[in-house]
Amino acid sequence: MRAIGQDVLGGPEVLKIVEIDRPEPRPGEILVRVHAAGVNPTDWWHRATGGLLTPGRPVPLGWDVSGTVETVGLGVTMYEAGDEVFGMPRLPEPAGAYAEFLTAPARHLARKPAGLTHVEAAALPVAGLTAWQCLVDTARVAEGQRVLIHAAAGGVGHLAVQIAKARGAYVIGTASAEKHDFVRDLGADEVIDYRTTDFVTAARDIDVVLDAVGGEYGPRSLKTLRSGGRVVSIASPAEAALADTAAGLGLRAGFTIVEPDHGGLNALTALVESGHLRVAVDAVLPLEEAAKAHELGESGRTKGKIVLAVA
Ligand SMILES: NC(=O)c1ccc[n+]([C@@H]2O[C@H](COP(=O)([O-])OP(=O)(O)OC[C@H]3O[C@@H](n4cnc5c(N)ncnc54)[C@H](OP(=O)(O)O)[C@@H]3O)[C@@H](O)[C@H]2O)c1
Repeated sequence: MRAIGQDVLGGPEVLKIVEIDRPEPRPGEILVRVHAAGVNPTDWWHRATGGLLTPGRPVPLGWDVSGTVETVGLGVTMYEAGDEVFGMPRLPEPAGAYAEFLTAPARHLARKPAGLTHVEAAALPVAGLTAWQCLVDTARVAEGQRVLIHAAAGGVGHLAVQIAKARGAYVIGTASAEKHDFVRDLGADEVIDYRTTDFVTAARDIDVVLDAVGGEYGPRSLKTLRSGGRVVSIASPAEAALADTAAGLGLRAGFTIVEPDHGGLNALTALVESGHLRVAVDAVLPLEEAAKAHELGESGRTKGKIVLAVA
């Protein structure tokens, strides 16, 4: 089968089309014919560094997938050949979604939302599960709470705005001015132009901050919280240290890593099918142009998601 591979770590130019053996599903796994693969910051971070588990060594890239079940492994009863599935298998282990086929534990995937194309469905799992696990599983965002979403126009942010709204929260997002209409259209009640306005002065009495930017945004976001409020950070593990600072102030903060999540995928599907969640796809490129997709993504200016069309 065709896949994207790399011999060495480096910039987007190290990515190339390779021919490799089609994988075989082990017991409990399914073989998926990949129709589309979403592109995420973790992809270019693994391309350049090898990632947390295999530092210094290239790994097969791609965790976001939408496709059809080709065959099922021993003992799998929840799917059969031809079923349409989507998901985020194996993370933080490699999944290899930049390929014509991948294998995945059956419950790392779920049935694709009926109303989404494969391209749209492939844009949803990593970013959508991250937003869901941060806002719902971790922070338990509830009706009437004030939620601040940093990078509200990005892959995670644009889904987080909609998930927080669906839970009945008052949502404030940060984005540059040209993306304010987009973020408001997603349901945000207020949008702060972070280039001209300090969010610390513009956002007050916040219950939950989702910080997808990192660096100084973590400690500065603590200043927007009401007593007992919480910052959930996803940009860098270094933000784990923020927890101690927050605790000293009667606040909470922590770093979260997204996990494979069958129930979370079904929750996202329910939101899509009830009209509460839509996926914005900024660019679709063929698998061969994975390097270009990384260049676009690494610009840090994406509105929504970038997706590779594979089948
Ligand atoms: N821990 C985890 O499990 C996990 C999971 C998923 C993602 N992440 C991390 O979360 C971060 C975001 O991921 P993503 O997929 O959403 O990235 P993305 O789609 O590439 O984010 C791009 C967006 O960031 C916005 N942005 C950049 N700087 C900003 C700033 N200072 N303030 C407000 N918005 C800003 C840009 O908007 P403008 O053009 O308006 O600046 C753009 O819309 C990345 O660091 C990623 O590695 C972590």
